[in-house]
Parts: sequence; structure tokens; C-alpha cells
Amino acid sequence: MAYMKTKKNGTMTVGVLTSGGDAPGMNAAVRAIVRSGIAAGYQIKGIRRGYSGLLEEDIFDMNARSVSDIIQKGGTILYTARCPEMMRPEGQEKAAYILKKHCIDALVVIGGDGSYRGALSLARQGINVIGVPGTIDLDIACSDYTIGFDTALNTAMEAIDKVRDTSASHERCSIIEVMGRKAGHIALWSGIATGAEEILVTERYDYDEQKIIDSIIEKKKLGKKLHIIINAEGIGDSNGMAKRIEAATGLETRATIIGYMQRGGSPTCRDRVMASAMGAKAIEVLAEGKKNRIIAWKHGEFVDFDVEEALSMKKDLNDDLWDISRKLCR
Ligand code: ADP
Ligand code: F6P
Repeated sequence: MAYMKTKKNGTMTVGVLTSGGDAPGMNAAVRAIVRSGIAAGYQIKGIRRGYSGLLEEDIFDMNARSVSDIIQKGGTILYTARCPEMMRPEGQEKAAYILKKHCIDALVVIGGDGSYRGALSLARQGINVIGVPGTIDLDIACSDYTIGFDTALNTAMEAIDKVRDTSASHERCSIIEVMGRKAGHIALWSGIATGAEEILVTERYDYDEQKIIDSIIEKKKLGKKLHIIINAEGIGDSNGMAKRIEAATGLETRATIIGYMQRGGSPTCRDRVMASAMGAKAIEVLAEGKKNRIIAWKHGEFVDFDVEEALSMKKDLNDDLWDISRKLCR
């Protein structure tokens, strides 16, 4: 499928979409892309509902006013979606065709690794793509920071603190499940921040529940009355775990699954500022004439990586933080 359309003038047109799970701060990134894009002399087109909206040609012109009053809002004004059609070559070809039909020279994709894989398929068809890390999971290998992580983490921390209060009053054990189907960063950080006794993450858990039971019994003997276990979504089964722990230890045990509230809410200052900077950086790399880059925060600097290189990188939990958490969980 080929489509050639002559542009009316030489101005670059930049499309922007949000894709995958939403994350607080995505709106701040959209705002920064629109406003710094306009400042660079580009035309900006918003695309609703990620690749789904692209395939349905849900594309509209954006100006500075389109992004007024959104920096403080959670979610994404562009909506987001998961789009199975984009996983198939026909969908990818159709998406590139539509972008060319709408004279979109470059596409900024705010999302996670999956969204970048979709972007890479477009890059292979001649569309310049720029990725901006937007996910609460912090699981983008090339970047030490992802938009939404800080807000989600603070939401989780506040919720865990509240569960701790009631758990302490009743001298109970609490299992609190936090988001992160494939990555345990929210569990590790919130576990450290709330002084949890156990932090269970897929990256480190050996699924030996007896060890947890033995440790609770041991600590109980030493006079410990409160036991907080942070369980990452990827491990799941928090209710089952609570029943088994209660039966084995004789200690009343309850499970709390915090769930989607971690993905919503007004972004923290850190998420707003990082999202603004990353959005502006996306336009900066386009203005420098670069192609197919992922914006990242690495070793305290904003940098950019080739999309393919970024997707080949692997990320684990921060080993130092994990070791520190082991020393503190006593
Ligand atoms: P995230 O971007 O947060 O990792 P997903 O993994 O759900 O979220 O991916 C978002 C969307 O990106 C998917 O619904 C799909 O449209 C597209 N996508 C994911 N993986 C691929 C892939 N391998 N090839 C093409 N498109 C993909
Ligand atoms: O946004 C990231 C995330 O929260 C993951 O932790 C989780 O695996 C996934 O999204 C769940 O999202 P959904 O239920 O919308 O597919």
C-alpha cells in the first residue's frame, strides 16, 4: 500500500498519541509536545486512543489552547487503548499509510515498550518516530525514569500507610498488592517507603511461602505485632496467600489489592516536570534532525536512544535498593 501526498508548505507535521496503560503526567507531556512543537514552527496533530484511533483516522489539529488546563490532570486527554490490529503487518501497513495520507512526518508515541514496538514497525516504513516513556511501571530499560511512576508510587505509599494503621490496631498481618504485572519497581519502592517486612516481586521471589510463614512466626515470638507484606501484581494470589498465612501462623491476615487507583490522580510535581521536559526534548530531537529515537532520563541527564537499541536493552530491579530492602525488613 503506497500513498504520496504533496504537502502545502514545508512545515513539518508532528502527530502525537498516548498508548498502552495511562499514566499520570501523560497530559503534561502532550502539552509540552504541542507547545514546544508550535514554538519550533511545526503543525501538531493529536491522535485519539493510541494506535486504535490512528487506524480509525481519529486525527485532529491541535494548538496551544488544545492543551490548556491539563497539566494537573491525571489520565490522558488523548485517551489510550491497546490495539491488537497493530501487532499484525496489515495493521502496521495501514497505520503508516494513514500517517502519510495525513502528511504526518513524525509521530511522538507516549507509552511503554509495547507502544515502541508498534512505533518501530512504523519507522521501518519510513515514518520518523519518537518515543516518550509513559508508564507507571518504571519498566523501560533505557530510562531511569518513566512518567507516572512517582505519582503511582506515592498513591501506593499513602494507601499502604492507611492499611498499616488499621493493621497495627488489630495486630494483624496485611498483604497489600500493588501494580506491576511484569515489573516489581512499585513494590520495591513502596515496600521500602512503608517499612514492609516482606517485599514479593517476580524478579526475586522463589515462591517458597513457608519461608514467609517461618519469618512471621519468628518475629511474632520476638514481640512483633504488625506484619506488612507488599506483593507485586505479577505474583498475585494475595487473598489465597492471606488465608494460607493465617492458617499456618494463627495470626489474623487480610489482603488488600490497591488496583487501578494507582494509575489515576493528579500527577506529582516530579511527574509534571519530568513529563514536560521529556515532551519538550522529543521536539528538540526532531528539530536536530534526528530519527527514530526514544527520550530517556539516564544518570541524571535527558538523553535519547535509537528505538531498536532501546528495545534491545534489559532492565532489572535496582540491586542496591533490593539489598538495602533486605537489611531493613526486620
Ligand atoms: P505499553 O506501551 O505500556 O508497553 P502495551 O504492551 O499494551 O503497552 O502496548 C501498547 C500497544 O502497542 C499494543 O496494544 C499494540 O497496539 C502496540 N504493540 C505492542 N506490542 C507490539 C508489537 N510487538 N508490534 C507492534 N505493535 C505492538
Ligand atoms: O500501566 C501499567 C499496568 O498498570 C501494569 O502494572 C499492569 O500489568 C497493567 O497496566 C494492567 O493494565 P490493564 O488492566 O489496563 O491491562
